[in-house]
Amino acid sequence: MAAGLFKSEVKNPVLRWVDTRLPLITMMQKEYGSFPTPRNFNYFWNFGALATVTLMIMIMTGVFLAMNYTPNANMAFSSVQHIMRDVNYGWLIRYVHMNGASMFFIVVYIHIFRGLYYGSYKFPRELLWMLGVVILLLMMATAFMGYVLPWGQMSFWGATVITNLFSAIPVVGQSIVQWLWGGFSVGNPTLNRFFSLHYLLPFLIVGVVFLHVVALHITGSNNPLGIDVKGPQDTLPFHPYYTVKDSVGLCVFLLIWAAFVFFMPNLLGDTINSIPANPLQTPADVVPEWYFLPFYAILRSVPNKVLGVALMFASIGVLFVLPWLDTSPVRSCRFRPIYRILVPLLVVDLFALGYVGAHHPQGFVVLLGRVATAWYFLHFLVFTPLVGWFETPLPLPESIAKPIVRKPHSGGGPIPGGAVAKPMENA
Ligand code: HEM
Repeated sequence: MAAGLFKSEVKNPVLRWVDTRLPLITMMQKEYGSFPTPRNFNYFWNFGALATVTLMIMIMTGVFLAMNYTPNANMAFSSVQHIMRDVNYGWLIRYVHMNGASMFFIVVYIHIFRGLYYGSYKFPRELLWMLGVVILLLMMATAFMGYVLPWGQMSFWGATVITNLFSAIPVVGQSIVQWLWGGFSVGNPTLNRFFSLHYLLPFLIVGVVFLHVVALHITGSNNPLGIDVKGPQDTLPFHPYYTVKDSVGLCVFLLIWAAFVFFMPNLLGDTINSIPANPLQTPADVVPEWYFLPFYAILRSVPNKVLGVALMFASIGVLFVLPWLDTSPVRSCRFRPIYRILVPLLVVDLFALGYVGAHHPQGFVVLLGRVATAWYFLHFLVFTPLVGWFETPLPLPESIAKPIVRKPHSGGGPIPGGAVAKPMENA
Protein backbone atom coordinates (compact mmCIF):
# COMPACT_ATOMS: atom_id res chain seq x y z
CA MET A 1 0.00 0.00 0.00
CA ALA A 2 1.37 3.37 -1.02
CA ALA A 3 1.83 5.96 1.70
CA GLY A 4 -1.31 7.99 2.32
CA LEU A 5 -3.70 5.44 0.78
CA PHE A 6 -6.46 3.78 2.77
CA LYS A 7 -6.44 -0.05 2.77
CA SER A 8 -9.77 -0.82 1.11
CA GLU A 9 -11.31 -4.29 0.99
CA VAL A 10 -13.75 -3.47 -1.80
CA LYS A 11 -13.56 -6.17 -4.54
CA ASN A 12 -14.41 -4.15 -7.66
CA PRO A 13 -11.10 -2.61 -8.90
CA VAL A 14 -12.59 0.73 -9.98
CA LEU A 15 -14.53 1.17 -6.74
CA ARG A 16 -11.43 0.06 -4.77
CA TRP A 17 -9.37 2.72 -6.57
CA VAL A 18 -11.85 5.34 -5.39
CA ASP A 19 -12.22 3.83 -1.91
CA THR A 20 -8.47 3.83 -1.23
CA ARG A 21 -8.49 7.59 -1.87
CA LEU A 22 -11.90 8.47 -0.43
CA PRO A 23 -13.16 5.58 1.74
CA LEU A 24 -16.87 6.40 1.50
CA ILE A 25 -17.82 2.83 0.57
CA THR A 26 -15.96 1.41 3.58
CA MET A 27 -17.54 4.07 5.78
CA MET A 28 -21.06 3.25 4.53
CA GLN A 29 -20.35 -0.47 4.99
CA LYS A 30 -19.28 0.21 8.57
CA GLU A 31 -22.12 2.60 9.46
CA TYR A 32 -24.99 0.92 7.57
CA GLY A 33 -23.73 -2.58 6.75
CA SER A 34 -22.14 -4.23 9.75
CA PHE A 35 -23.20 -1.53 12.25
CA PRO A 36 -24.20 -3.39 15.46
CA THR A 37 -27.85 -2.54 16.11
CA PRO A 38 -29.97 -3.71 19.05
CA ARG A 39 -31.82 -6.86 17.99
CA ASN A 40 -35.15 -6.01 19.61
CA PHE A 41 -36.28 -2.95 17.58
CA ASN A 42 -40.01 -2.68 16.96
CA TYR A 43 -41.61 -0.76 14.06
CA PHE A 44 -41.30 2.55 15.93
CA TRP A 45 -37.61 2.42 14.97
CA ASN A 46 -38.61 2.78 11.29
CA PHE A 47 -39.54 6.41 11.61
CA GLY A 48 -36.07 7.97 11.45
CA ALA A 49 -35.50 6.25 8.12
CA LEU A 50 -38.98 7.31 6.93
CA ALA A 51 -38.22 10.91 7.88
CA THR A 52 -34.94 10.75 5.93
CA VAL A 53 -36.68 9.48 2.79
CA THR A 54 -39.46 12.07 3.17
CA LEU A 55 -36.88 14.85 3.44
CA MET A 56 -35.27 13.68 0.18
CA ILE A 57 -38.61 13.46 -1.65
CA MET A 58 -39.57 16.93 -0.39
CA ILE A 59 -36.32 18.44 -1.67
CA MET A 60 -36.62 16.74 -5.06
CA THR A 61 -40.25 17.74 -5.65
CA GLY A 62 -39.53 21.23 -4.30
CA VAL A 63 -36.69 21.79 -6.76
CA PHE A 64 -38.97 20.81 -9.67
CA LEU A 65 -41.80 23.02 -8.41
CA ALA A 66 -39.42 25.96 -8.17
CA MET A 67 -38.63 25.61 -11.89
CA ASN A 68 -42.18 26.72 -12.71
CA TYR A 69 -43.14 28.84 -9.71
CA THR A 70 -42.93 32.66 -9.75
CA PRO A 71 -42.22 34.34 -6.39
CA ASN A 72 -44.03 37.55 -7.22
CA ALA A 73 -47.16 38.75 -5.43
CA ASN A 74 -48.94 39.40 -8.75
CA MET A 75 -48.03 36.07 -10.32
CA ALA A 76 -47.51 33.51 -7.52
CA PHE A 77 -51.12 32.30 -7.36
CA SER A 78 -51.47 31.91 -11.13
CA SER A 79 -48.03 30.29 -11.43
CA VAL A 80 -49.28 27.57 -9.06
CA GLN A 81 -52.40 27.16 -11.23
CA HIS A 82 -50.06 26.92 -14.23
CA ILE A 83 -48.14 24.13 -12.49
CA MET A 84 -51.41 22.30 -11.75
CA ARG A 85 -52.91 22.62 -15.23
CA ASP A 86 -50.20 23.14 -17.87
CA VAL A 87 -46.91 21.67 -16.64
CA ASN A 88 -46.51 17.96 -17.43
CA TYR A 89 -47.22 16.06 -14.20
CA GLY A 90 -47.12 19.38 -12.38
CA TRP A 91 -50.26 18.37 -10.45
CA LEU A 92 -48.49 15.20 -9.30
CA ILE A 93 -45.33 16.98 -8.18
CA ARG A 94 -47.36 19.60 -6.34
CA TYR A 95 -49.67 17.13 -4.63
CA VAL A 96 -46.72 14.96 -3.54
CA HIS A 97 -45.01 18.05 -2.09
CA MET A 98 -48.17 19.50 -0.52
CA ASN A 99 -49.24 16.26 1.16
CA GLY A 100 -45.58 15.46 1.83
CA ALA A 101 -45.49 18.29 4.37
CA SER A 102 -48.27 16.57 6.34
CA MET A 103 -46.61 13.16 5.95
CA PHE A 104 -43.33 14.63 7.19
CA PHE A 105 -44.97 15.98 10.35
CA ILE A 106 -46.87 12.71 10.98
CA VAL A 107 -43.62 10.77 10.72
CA VAL A 108 -41.61 13.18 12.86
CA TYR A 109 -44.33 13.44 15.53
CA ILE A 110 -44.41 9.63 15.82
CA HIS A 111 -40.58 9.66 15.87
CA ILE A 112 -40.69 12.12 18.79
CA PHE A 113 -43.37 10.08 20.58
CA ARG A 114 -41.14 7.00 20.25
CA GLY A 115 -38.31 8.98 21.86
CA LEU A 116 -40.58 10.12 24.70
CA TYR A 117 -42.01 6.66 25.39
CA TYR A 118 -38.72 4.77 25.32
CA GLY A 119 -36.66 7.52 26.97
CA SER A 120 -34.34 7.95 23.99
CA TYR A 121 -33.62 11.54 25.12
CA LYS A 122 -31.81 10.41 28.26
CA PHE A 123 -28.10 9.93 28.87
CA PRO A 124 -26.11 9.50 26.68
CA ARG A 125 -28.40 10.69 23.85
CA GLU A 126 -29.22 14.22 25.13
CA LEU A 127 -27.43 16.03 22.30
CA LEU A 128 -28.94 13.73 19.69
CA TRP A 129 -32.37 14.66 21.09
CA MET A 130 -31.56 18.39 21.16
CA LEU A 131 -30.42 18.26 17.53
CA GLY A 132 -33.81 16.67 16.85
CA VAL A 133 -35.57 19.63 18.46
CA VAL A 134 -33.49 21.99 16.26
CA ILE A 135 -34.66 19.98 13.24
CA LEU A 136 -38.26 20.30 14.43
CA LEU A 137 -37.93 24.09 14.68
CA LEU A 138 -36.36 24.30 11.23
CA MET A 139 -39.13 22.09 9.82
CA MET A 140 -41.77 24.36 11.32
CA ALA A 141 -40.16 27.47 9.85
CA THR A 142 -39.84 25.79 6.46
CA ALA A 143 -43.45 24.58 6.43
CA PHE A 144 -44.75 27.96 7.50
CA MET A 145 -42.89 29.79 4.73
CA GLY A 146 -43.82 27.15 2.15
CA TYR A 147 -47.50 27.62 2.94
CA VAL A 148 -47.21 31.33 2.10
CA LEU A 149 -45.89 30.68 -1.42
CA PRO A 150 -49.17 29.77 -3.23
CA TRP A 151 -50.37 33.25 -2.15
CA GLY A 152 -53.93 32.19 -1.37
CA GLN A 153 -56.11 33.82 1.28
CA MET A 154 -54.83 31.57 4.09
CA SER A 155 -51.22 31.99 2.90
CA PHE A 156 -51.52 35.75 3.18
CA TRP A 157 -53.48 35.96 6.42
CA GLY A 158 -51.54 33.14 8.07
CA ALA A 159 -48.34 35.03 7.28
CA THR A 160 -49.87 38.24 8.64
CA VAL A 161 -50.98 36.66 11.93
CA ILE A 162 -47.76 34.73 12.60
CA THR A 163 -45.30 37.48 11.65
CA ASN A 164 -47.33 39.89 13.80
CA LEU A 165 -46.57 37.70 16.82
CA PHE A 166 -43.10 39.23 16.93
CA SER A 167 -44.68 42.59 17.68
CA ALA A 168 -45.27 41.17 21.18
CA ILE A 169 -41.54 41.60 21.88
CA PRO A 170 -41.22 44.74 24.01
CA VAL A 171 -39.68 47.91 22.48
CA VAL A 172 -38.22 46.40 19.28
CA GLY A 173 -41.19 44.17 18.36
CA GLN A 174 -42.79 46.42 15.73
CA SER A 175 -39.43 47.12 14.07
CA ILE A 176 -38.72 43.40 13.87
CA VAL A 177 -42.09 42.78 12.21
CA GLN A 178 -41.43 45.45 9.58
CA TRP A 179 -37.97 44.05 9.03
CA LEU A 180 -39.49 40.58 8.49
CA TRP A 181 -42.06 41.95 6.06
CA GLY A 182 -39.60 44.13 4.15
CA GLY A 183 -42.28 46.84 4.25
CA PHE A 184 -45.34 47.95 6.17
CA SER A 185 -47.45 44.86 5.52
CA VAL A 186 -47.05 41.34 4.15
CA GLY A 187 -46.33 41.93 0.46
CA ASN A 188 -44.03 41.21 -2.45
CA PRO A 189 -40.74 41.54 -0.50
CA THR A 190 -42.15 39.15 2.14
CA LEU A 191 -43.07 36.60 -0.51
CA ASN A 192 -39.61 36.89 -2.09
CA ARG A 193 -37.67 36.32 1.10
CA PHE A 194 -39.97 33.50 2.19
CA PHE A 195 -39.35 31.77 -1.13
CA SER A 196 -35.61 32.23 -0.77
CA LEU A 197 -35.60 30.87 2.79
CA HIS A 198 -38.04 28.07 1.99
CA TYR A 199 -35.54 26.88 -0.62
CA LEU A 200 -32.55 27.26 1.70
CA LEU A 201 -33.77 25.80 5.01
CA PRO A 202 -34.29 22.19 3.83
CA PHE A 203 -30.56 22.04 3.03
CA LEU A 204 -29.81 23.28 6.52
CA ILE A 205 -32.11 20.51 7.80
CA VAL A 206 -30.05 18.00 5.78
CA GLY A 207 -26.94 19.30 7.58
CA VAL A 208 -28.50 19.00 11.03
CA VAL A 209 -29.90 15.53 10.18
CA PHE A 210 -26.33 14.52 9.28
CA LEU A 211 -25.12 15.65 12.73
CA HIS A 212 -28.16 13.92 14.30
CA VAL A 213 -27.17 10.61 12.69
CA VAL A 214 -23.46 11.04 13.50
CA ALA A 215 -24.44 11.58 17.15
CA LEU A 216 -26.64 8.48 16.96
CA HIS A 217 -23.78 6.36 15.63
CA ILE A 218 -21.52 7.51 18.47
CA THR A 219 -23.93 6.51 21.25
CA GLY A 220 -25.66 3.70 19.35
CA SER A 221 -29.44 3.35 19.27
CA ASN A 222 -31.70 3.02 22.24
CA ASN A 223 -34.20 0.12 22.06
CA PRO A 224 -37.69 -0.80 23.38
CA LEU A 225 -36.25 -2.10 26.66
CA GLY A 226 -34.20 1.04 27.16
CA ILE A 227 -31.26 -0.93 28.55
CA ASP A 228 -27.71 -0.77 27.23
CA VAL A 229 -26.27 -3.24 24.76
CA LYS A 230 -24.10 -5.66 26.79
CA GLY A 231 -22.33 -7.46 23.95
CA PRO A 232 -22.60 -8.97 20.47
CA GLN A 233 -25.42 -11.29 21.60
CA ASP A 234 -27.65 -8.20 21.93
CA THR A 235 -27.09 -6.84 18.43
CA LEU A 236 -27.58 -7.64 14.75
CA PRO A 237 -25.79 -6.11 11.75
CA PHE A 238 -27.87 -3.21 10.36
CA HIS A 239 -27.86 -4.87 6.93
CA PRO A 240 -29.83 -6.95 6.02
CA TYR A 241 -31.97 -7.01 9.17
CA TYR A 242 -32.92 -3.37 9.48
CA THR A 243 -32.52 -2.38 5.82
CA VAL A 244 -35.24 -4.96 5.14
CA LYS A 245 -37.40 -3.95 8.11
CA ASP A 246 -37.10 -0.25 7.13
CA SER A 247 -38.04 -1.14 3.54
CA VAL A 248 -41.24 -2.87 4.70
CA GLY A 249 -42.25 0.22 6.67
CA LEU A 250 -41.27 2.45 3.75
CA CYS A 251 -43.57 0.54 1.35
CA VAL A 252 -46.53 0.91 3.70
CA PHE A 253 -45.74 4.59 4.28
CA LEU A 254 -45.43 5.38 0.56
CA LEU A 255 -48.77 3.63 -0.07
CA ILE A 256 -50.47 5.84 2.52
CA TRP A 257 -48.83 8.95 1.04
CA ALA A 258 -49.93 7.86 -2.47
CA ALA A 259 -53.49 7.30 -1.21
CA PHE A 260 -53.62 10.94 -0.14
CA VAL A 261 -52.05 12.19 -3.38
CA PHE A 262 -54.31 10.22 -5.72
CA PHE A 263 -57.60 9.96 -3.84
CA MET A 264 -57.88 12.89 -1.41
CA PRO A 265 -55.18 15.43 -2.34
CA ASN A 266 -56.95 18.40 -0.76
CA LEU A 267 -58.32 16.72 2.34
CA LEU A 268 -55.62 18.06 4.65
CA GLY A 269 -55.59 21.53 3.10
CA ASP A 270 -57.86 24.53 3.59
CA THR A 271 -60.34 25.36 0.81
CA ILE A 272 -59.94 29.08 1.52
CA ASN A 273 -56.43 28.86 0.11
CA SER A 274 -57.94 28.31 -3.33
CA ILE A 275 -58.98 31.98 -3.28
CA PRO A 276 -56.18 34.39 -4.31
CA ALA A 277 -54.72 36.53 -1.49
CA ASN A 278 -56.79 39.62 -0.83
CA PRO A 279 -55.27 42.14 1.62
CA LEU A 280 -58.64 43.89 1.89
CA GLN A 281 -60.64 40.88 3.07
CA THR A 282 -59.77 38.96 6.25
CA PRO A 283 -61.20 35.40 6.39
CA ALA A 284 -63.64 34.75 9.28
CA ASP A 285 -61.18 32.31 10.91
CA VAL A 286 -57.46 32.21 10.27
CA VAL A 287 -56.53 28.58 10.93
CA PRO A 288 -53.06 27.11 10.42
CA GLU A 289 -52.31 23.71 8.91
CA TRP A 290 -53.21 20.76 11.19
CA TYR A 291 -49.62 20.17 12.34
CA PHE A 292 -49.46 23.63 13.93
CA LEU A 293 -52.87 23.49 15.64
CA PRO A 294 -51.71 22.43 19.15
CA PHE A 295 -49.15 25.24 19.25
CA TYR A 296 -51.71 27.70 17.90
CA ALA A 297 -54.09 26.64 20.70
CA ILE A 298 -51.35 27.26 23.29
CA LEU A 299 -50.75 30.71 21.76
CA ARG A 300 -54.44 31.59 22.14
CA SER A 301 -54.91 29.98 25.55
CA VAL A 302 -54.22 33.17 27.50
CA PRO A 303 -55.83 36.55 26.82
CA ASN A 304 -52.45 38.28 26.67
CA LYS A 305 -50.41 38.41 23.48
CA VAL A 306 -46.94 38.55 25.07
CA LEU A 307 -47.72 35.66 27.41
CA GLY A 308 -49.36 33.65 24.60
CA VAL A 309 -46.31 34.04 22.36
CA ALA A 310 -43.99 33.22 25.28
CA LEU A 311 -45.99 30.07 26.08
CA MET A 312 -45.97 28.96 22.45
CA PHE A 313 -42.17 29.21 22.21
CA ALA A 314 -41.83 27.65 25.68
CA SER A 315 -43.85 24.63 24.51
CA ILE A 316 -40.99 23.74 22.17
CA GLY A 317 -38.28 25.13 24.45
CA VAL A 318 -39.29 22.71 27.20
CA LEU A 319 -38.33 19.83 24.90
CA PHE A 320 -34.73 21.09 24.85
CA VAL A 321 -34.38 20.65 28.59
CA LEU A 322 -36.41 17.45 28.87
CA PRO A 323 -33.31 15.25 29.38
CA TRP A 324 -32.69 17.15 32.62
CA LEU A 325 -36.32 17.34 33.72
CA ASP A 326 -36.74 13.57 33.72
CA THR A 327 -35.26 12.33 36.97
CA SER A 328 -35.97 8.62 36.49
CA PRO A 329 -32.92 6.38 35.99
CA VAL A 330 -35.06 4.06 33.84
CA ARG A 331 -35.45 4.87 30.14
CA SER A 332 -38.24 2.74 28.72
CA CYS A 333 -41.86 3.30 29.79
CA ARG A 334 -42.28 -0.48 29.70
CA PHE A 335 -40.76 -0.49 33.17
CA ARG A 336 -42.33 2.73 34.41
CA PRO A 337 -45.88 2.00 35.65
CA ILE A 338 -46.91 5.63 36.09
CA TYR A 339 -45.01 7.43 33.34
CA ARG A 340 -46.28 4.89 30.80
CA ILE A 341 -49.76 6.28 31.41
CA LEU A 342 -48.66 9.92 31.39
CA VAL A 343 -46.97 9.79 27.97
CA PRO A 344 -50.09 8.55 26.11
CA LEU A 345 -52.11 11.09 28.12
CA LEU A 346 -49.85 13.79 26.72
CA VAL A 347 -50.79 12.59 23.25
CA VAL A 348 -54.50 12.86 24.16
CA ASP A 349 -53.74 16.34 25.47
CA LEU A 350 -52.10 17.31 22.16
CA PHE A 351 -55.17 16.06 20.25
CA ALA A 352 -57.36 18.17 22.54
CA LEU A 353 -55.13 21.17 21.82
CA GLY A 354 -55.41 20.40 18.11
CA TYR A 355 -59.21 20.46 18.41
CA VAL A 356 -59.04 23.78 20.24
CA GLY A 357 -56.68 25.26 17.63
CA ALA A 358 -59.11 24.36 14.84
CA HIS A 359 -62.17 25.92 16.47
CA HIS A 360 -63.34 29.42 17.14
CA PRO A 361 -62.21 30.38 20.69
CA GLN A 362 -65.53 30.67 22.53
CA GLY A 363 -67.30 28.90 25.40
CA PHE A 364 -66.15 25.34 26.05
CA VAL A 365 -63.29 25.61 23.55
CA VAL A 366 -61.63 28.35 25.63
CA LEU A 367 -61.86 26.28 28.80
CA LEU A 368 -60.58 23.14 27.11
CA GLY A 369 -57.69 25.14 25.63
CA ARG A 370 -56.66 26.43 29.05
CA VAL A 371 -56.89 23.06 30.76
CA ALA A 372 -54.99 21.33 27.95
CA THR A 373 -52.28 24.02 27.91
CA ALA A 374 -51.88 23.74 31.68
CA TRP A 375 -51.65 19.93 31.39
CA TYR A 376 -48.98 20.22 28.67
CA PHE A 377 -46.69 22.28 30.91
CA LEU A 378 -47.56 20.33 34.05
CA HIS A 379 -46.57 17.15 32.24
CA PHE A 380 -43.04 18.35 31.51
CA LEU A 381 -42.34 20.71 34.40
CA VAL A 382 -44.05 18.92 37.29
CA PHE A 383 -45.09 15.33 36.55
CA THR A 384 -41.90 14.35 34.75
CA PRO A 385 -39.50 15.32 37.60
CA LEU A 386 -41.86 14.17 40.38
CA VAL A 387 -42.79 10.80 38.90
CA GLY A 388 -39.09 10.10 38.32
CA TRP A 389 -38.50 10.50 42.05
CA PHE A 390 -41.51 8.64 43.41
CA GLU A 391 -42.26 5.89 40.91
CA THR A 392 -40.98 2.37 41.63
CA PRO A 393 -39.81 0.92 38.32
CA LEU A 394 -40.38 -2.71 37.41
CA PRO A 395 -37.27 -4.94 37.42
CA LEU A 396 -35.19 -4.52 34.27
CA PRO A 397 -34.20 -7.58 32.20
CA GLU A 398 -30.59 -8.71 32.45
CA SER A 399 -29.89 -8.11 28.77
CA ILE A 400 -31.62 -7.41 25.47
CA ALA A 401 -31.13 -10.98 24.30
CA LYS A 402 -32.45 -12.62 27.47
CA PRO A 403 -36.21 -12.01 27.08
CA ILE A 404 -36.36 -12.61 23.32
CA VAL A 405 -34.35 -15.76 22.72
CA ARG A 406 -35.64 -19.29 23.18
CA LYS A 407 -34.47 -21.37 26.10
CA PRO A 408 -31.68 -23.99 25.51
CA HIS A 409 -31.85 -26.74 22.83
CA SER A 410 -33.09 -24.37 20.12
CA GLY A 411 -29.72 -24.04 18.34
CA GLY A 412 -27.48 -20.97 18.01
CA GLY A 413 -24.63 -19.98 20.30
CA PRO A 414 -24.66 -19.73 24.09
CA ILE A 415 -25.19 -16.36 25.65
CA PRO A 416 -24.63 -15.21 29.21
CA GLY A 417 -27.65 -16.00 31.37
CA GLY A 418 -28.24 -19.47 30.00
CA ALA A 419 -30.47 -18.58 27.01
CA VAL A 420 -29.44 -19.28 23.44
CA ALA A 421 -29.08 -16.66 20.72
CA LYS A 422 -30.58 -17.45 17.33
CA PRO A 423 -29.82 -14.68 14.81
CA MET A 424 -33.16 -14.87 12.94
CA GLU A 425 -35.48 -14.74 15.92
CA ASN A 426 -35.67 -10.99 16.06
CA ALA A 427 -36.63 -10.54 12.42
C1 HEM B 1 -36.04 15.54 9.50
C2 HEM B 1 -36.30 15.03 10.66
C3 HEM B 1 -35.57 13.88 11.27
C4 HEM B 1 -34.84 12.90 10.66
C5 HEM B 1 -34.59 12.72 9.18
C6 HEM B 1 -34.35 12.03 11.70
C7 HEM B 1 -33.57 10.91 11.47
C8 HEM B 1 -33.27 9.96 12.41
C9 HEM B 1 -32.73 8.66 12.15
C10 HEM B 1 -32.40 8.11 10.76
C11 HEM B 1 -32.61 8.02 13.33
C12 HEM B 1 -32.15 6.57 13.53
C13 HEM B 1 -33.32 5.64 13.26
C14 HEM B 1 -34.37 5.67 14.33
O1 HEM B 1 -34.00 5.53 15.53
O2 HEM B 1 -35.56 5.83 14.00
C15 HEM B 1 -33.01 8.93 14.38
C16 HEM B 1 -32.97 8.67 15.74
C17 HEM B 1 -33.36 9.54 16.73
N1 HEM B 1 -34.01 10.76 16.53
FE1 HEM B 1 -34.40 11.62 14.75
N2 HEM B 1 -34.76 12.49 12.92
C18 HEM B 1 -35.52 13.62 12.70
C19 HEM B 1 -36.16 14.39 13.67
C20 HEM B 1 -36.06 14.17 15.04
C21 HEM B 1 -36.70 14.97 16.04
C22 HEM B 1 -37.59 16.17 15.74
C23 HEM B 1 -36.35 14.45 17.26
C24 HEM B 1 -36.70 14.89 18.64
C25 HEM B 1 -37.14 16.04 18.99
C26 HEM B 1 -35.50 13.30 17.01
C27 HEM B 1 -34.95 12.50 17.99
C28 HEM B 1 -34.28 11.32 17.76
C29 HEM B 1 -33.74 10.44 18.79
C30 HEM B 1 -33.79 10.68 20.30
C31 HEM B 1 -33.18 9.34 18.15
C32 HEM B 1 -32.50 8.13 18.79
C33 HEM B 1 -33.56 7.11 18.94
C34 HEM B 1 -33.11 5.85 19.62
O3 HEM B 1 -31.95 5.50 19.53
O4 HEM B 1 -33.98 5.27 20.25
N3 HEM B 1 -35.34 13.15 15.67
N4 HEM B 1 -33.43 10.10 13.79
